[in-house]
Amino acid sequence: MNLRVVVNGRERHLDVPPHALLLDVLRDELDLKGAKRSCDTQVCGACTVLIDGLAVSACTYLAVEADGRSVTTVEGLADGESLHPLQRAFLDAGAVQCGFCTSGMLLTARALLAEEAAPTRAEINAGTDLSPEVASVEGWMVNSAFIETPDLASRFVGKLAARISADDSSINFYASSNSVDVRSLLPRDTTGYILWLDEGDVAGRKMDVFKVTVASAPKQRAVEDPAQIQIQFVVTAQPSENVTIPA
Ligand code: FES
Repeated sequence: MNLRVVVNGRERHLDVPPHALLLDVLRDELDLKGAKRSCDTQVCGACTVLIDGLAVSACTYLAVEADGRSVTTVEGLADGESLHPLQRAFLDAGAVQCGFCTSGMLLTARALLAEEAAPTRAEINAGTDLSPEVASVEGWMVNSAFIETPDLASRFVGKLAARISADDSSINFYASSNSVDVRSLLPRDTTGYILWLDEGDVAGRKMDVFKVTVASAPKQRAVEDPAQIQIQFVVTAQPSENVTIPA
């Protein structure tokens, strides 16, 4: 059967038997050996990969079920020479044990973190789109390598590095657009998401997601310049990159 699948960002076209397991296709056809076979019964997690961001056991997942989907293996976590922050955290903590199932743990953690900061379609639609009012952005070009990964058990309680805290990340809005003061829309302590939608709000495309709380919203005015509101946010969860935009 013909299979079209995006693996670690690269589109692949394969001809596979209908009963082929994803784990075998990844390891034997694509030479991606990070996912391991151990229990073969969907119990141990050593074979875990992500399908459209969700963790699945590749040992019991038919390859044809991945047709048209996006697959991430541990080989796709790092950004070139830069380790994913989870990989860095595992290294720093020595959390590898024998290493056999580390790829599965990494991808399971990745799915958990993405789930924490992946808004639903209803949340996106209910959000406040202030993009026409955005005047400038500071501090939001996040390089994952600099994000301090929270303890996995902490479920994210505002422990991220200062680089993406209110100290150095802000968005300037024009003070008034259509007579609306953004401070009435984003008062202090408002929680929500900042979405990075490079290609627009199109289902199936990718976005970066920042889960935030409004820390402050001072008004600025320079002589002869339009007044602006500088909204500062605290990022309260690991930012999720390349999250699929829901339908
Ligand atoms: S090999 Fe153990 S869950 Fe797949």
